[in-house]
Amino acid sequence: MKEIEWTDDLSVGVGLIDEQHKMLIKRLNDLKLSLTEQQGPAQIASTMNFLVEYTDFHFSTEEKHMEANEYPTFEAHKKMHDGFKQTLSGLEEDFEEEGATQGLADSIDTLLVNWLINHIQKVDVEFGKFLMSKGIELPEEG
Ligand SMILES: [Fe+2]
Repeated sequence: MKEIEWTDDLSVGVGLIDEQHKMLIKRLNDLKLSLTEQQGPAQIASTMNFLVEYTDFHFSTEEKHMEANEYPTFEAHKKMHDGFKQTLSGLEEDFEEEGATQGLADSIDTLLVNWLINHIQKVDVEFGKFLMSKGIELPEEG
């Protein structure tokens, strides 16, 4: 599995969100690595848990700023986040039931990685544009 790299074409133009996306990608890469290296169930479970926790934290950050700034498509955006969280918990269940299968590794690439890249480039970018058009700057600490 190839590592995902954060490059400028993933920038949404907002420092706080870009930094969190970098961390999210790192945690996704850590999970991919723990699977390819077959690091053992405890290690895989822990990288998965790190990813789940950071995903929740990051989505909450985005949603908090969307709500606070009356972002028009907040509800739709939040639904997408909820869908991703559901997918992620489904994969967690698969792992608990079947262990680190090739199918799980493939699903991480197709369901998580593809979703995230697409979401950042098509959906989060719009929020970034909205903030910039209103001249809103987000605090660095979230
Ligand atoms: Fe988002």
